Amino acid sequence: MTEAAARAWDQAADGWSASTPIVHAWLREATAAMLSEARLRPGARVLDLAAGAGDQTKDIALAVGPTGDVLATDISPKILDFARGCIEAAGLANVRFAVADAQQPLHAEAPFDAVTCRLGLMFCMDAAAALAAAFKALRPGGRFVALVFGDPANNPCITTMMKVARKHRGLSGSVAPYVEGGLFSLAAPGRLASLLTAAGYVEVAVQSLAAPFELPDAAAYVAFVRSSGSPIMEVLAPLDAKAKESAWREMAEALEQFRGDQGWLGPNELLLASATRAS
Ligand SMILES: C[S@@+](CC[C@H](N)C(=O)[O-])C[C@H]1O[C@@H](n2cnc3c(N)ncnc32)[C@H](O)[C@@H]1O
Repeated sequence: MTEAAARAWDQAADGWSASTPIVHAWLREATAAMLSEARLRPGARVLDLAAGAGDQTKDIALAVGPTGDVLATDISPKILDFARGCIEAAGLANVRFAVADAQQPLHAEAPFDAVTCRLGLMFCMDAAAALAAAFKALRPGGRFVALVFGDPANNPCITTMMKVARKHRGLSGSVAPYVEGGLFSLAAPGRLASLLTAAGYVEVAVQSLAAPFELPDAAAYVAFVRSSGSPIMEVLAPLDAKAKESAWREMAEALEQFRGDQGWLGPNELLLASATRAS
């Protein structure tokens, strides 16, 4: 399963990396909140899980400064190459990279002052294993922080697109909302907090953050989703090119409902989890 996920993210790596400006703007405030909860100090050692194309890795590397050390890991070798390029382009020399599954312990590298994970934890089929591995990687008193998608009801752009995609595939009924390894796998009320507590963390907090997409129009949002390795692409995968185009077009039309006086604003809710490894 992890191998399949790694292959899928290798394929999406170009698109996710090319979307970095959109992702950066979308997640600017949420990332700042995540890094604040991580309580990063100059000189800190940080493990950045599911680092992707390195957008938040760069912010972390800047926060810990030249005396700090960041290890960026991801299951996709190709997306990590983009992260390497992003860090090199920023002229930063305090980041190392390793292809690794967040669900597996990284014994040799511990201990870290903080473990971060932006929009990666919910893709783990075994989130409890990922939280346990992060716990082992932390020093006592170290911080774990993660951003994941919030409840489907508060993420109508995603649910609208999924509904249209399933209709075009001829799939009946709706998807189970909190399916393991899916976008909303950690969105059920209380789930993330109870997983963190069960893994032995203290100071467990999960807060909801509004992270709306501000884009020129719905078509720009659809273009982002098309290039970013979304599960919606997996639903459409068996369709021929013409049928896919028709589905994407209908999604853009449906998403025009989010156009207002100020332009297009796609609602989006994230959860920010933070916790401490007990001393
Ligand atoms: C939506 S992207 C987020 C990337 C980056 N953190 C960001 O916010 O821009 C999800 C990332 O999670 C990675 N990923 C998925 N499952 C993983 C796992 N089990 N272990 C490590 N990384 C994983 C993917 O390869 C991908 O880079």
